[in-house]
Amino acid sequence: MTQIKINKSDVFELKTDALVLGVFEKTEKFTGLVQQLDEVFQNKISSLYSENEIRGKLGEVTIIHNFVGFSAERLVIAGLGKIEEFDSDVVRKVSASVLNRLNGINLKQVSFSPIGSDLLGIFNSAKSIVEGAVLGLYRFEKYKSKPAGVSIKSVDLMGFASVNEDQVQDAVNQGKIIAEAVNLSRDLSNEPSNKMTPSVLSEIATDIANKEDFEIEVFDEKDISNFGMGALIGVASGSVEKPKFIVLKYFGKDKKSSPLCFIGKGITFDSGGISLKPAQNMGDMKGDMAGGASVIAAIQAIAKLKLKINLVVIVPATENMPGGSAQKPGDVVTAMNGTNIEIDNTDAEGRLVLADAISYARTIGVSKIVDVATLTGAIRVALGTNYAGIFGNNDELTKNIIESGKIVGEKIWELPVDHDYDHQYKSQVADFKNTGGRDAGSITGAQFIGEFAGEIPWAHLDIAAISRTNSDKFYNRKGATGFAVRTMIQFARLFEI
Ligand code: BES
Ligand code: MN
Ligand code: ZN
Repeated sequence: MTQIKINKSDVFELKTDALVLGVFEKTEKFTGLVQQLDEVFQNKISSLYSENEIRGKLGEVTIIHNFVGFSAERLVIAGLGKIEEFDSDVVRKVSASVLNRLNGINLKQVSFSPIGSDLLGIFNSAKSIVEGAVLGLYRFEKYKSKPAGVSIKSVDLMGFASVNEDQVQDAVNQGKIIAEAVNLSRDLSNEPSNKMTPSVLSEIATDIANKEDFEIEVFDEKDISNFGMGALIGVASGSVEKPKFIVLKYFGKDKKSSPLCFIGKGITFDSGGISLKPAQNMGDMKGDMAGGASVIAAIQAIAKLKLKINLVVIVPATENMPGGSAQKPGDVVTAMNGTNIEIDNTDAEGRLVLADAISYARTIGVSKIVDVATLTGAIRVALGTNYAGIFGNNDELTKNIIESGKIVGEKIWELPVDHDYDHQYKSQVADFKNTGGRDAGSITGAQFIGEFAGEIPWAHLDIAAISRTNSDKFYNRKGATGFAVRTMIQFARLFEI
């Protein structure tokens, strides 16, 4: 584990493998520490800049050696991109890019000077560097006999403590808590499905609740049947793994104040069921519990941050398998709220388990529901892999989530909910069917879920296209991204007393 600490040394006496400075693209003049060091080093940095060896482009990392009279082994100039496009997510990206590059040359200790602190403030700068570091140095190597590991043992923040060390330390702690929660979500989603069964997921959730001292209930198959959750039972029926209905409760303010509710889709493997998926990339469906992972990770962080809110997190967890007892197209199941659903396609299982989770949430009395789900392949057709889709029945709620996403660097775009789509999922034999045809697949999926929310303010995040990535880029690593953890934490802050 990489250590992160505040370092109060003087810049000229700083003993480190590398001191990192940030420069913007197309700046006429350096400021602050860069300007100061440029002068001391007889315009070395500015001449590299004017000769275009350094351009300041986002992600660019230039390593310079051998400065006389300077105890840092290397000076690292990190490109910050265009100043008009600068925000705290740029800092995360820069921090991750620099550390991965320096990790590639086996450095052990890296010191960051404040990046963009004039624009963001010193605390935001510190928090974002820490988040970029913890996210960027994430690896999932537990099944490698010879893990490559990470050479960087310590990341220091240099020149941050002159203001108020306690506040900087608090920013560092917050950044760590948040990024470690994202990494927890990534770990859960990267884990193969034979290791991350519904039972294992419920045990991990139990460990977290015990450690952070909040409440948890894990309902088993019998309880689920007794609740009348026919939709969840239907999905689970094709698997030998037993379903678990996981309910986590955190009270950070007066218990009488009705809690927020985050629900995460918890399909630990989605084979499609009898409507079997094609073989190609089916392995990625071990990550079909990414929504569940992200809301479990979010409540862990919210508890660690001691936010003054009340929150219930619900994860309906099951496999979707085509066993001999599996549900079949044409079957009719009855959800907890009495709604009859015709199973048109067993691969549209997410909306089924969410229907029961939302029905349950309504019975315990929650103020707002946000569900996070890898729901539809169609969301990728609509938005590509840069934005998650959001849908809802309450403008203020959807706007607040989109805004929260902007603050933390997670992009979310709203798609419509409209009664004109209702007919697409009307059934001949039951109240609804679980598919809505080819057109607007993400919208009909969302609206199906919305039918169970009724009058309660509800929003649905479709993270199917953004929950995993195919390449290492900035602070993301190939595999699970942990998307929505940061947005949900930020959103929760809106309800602090
Ligand atoms: N888990 C999938 C959605 C998905 C697809 C997630 C690709 C991540 C990457 C979901 O359960 C599913 O299979 N949805 C179907 C719905 C259809 C049958 C109405 C889909 O998108 O094809
Ligand atoms: Mn499916
Ligand atoms: Zn699925």
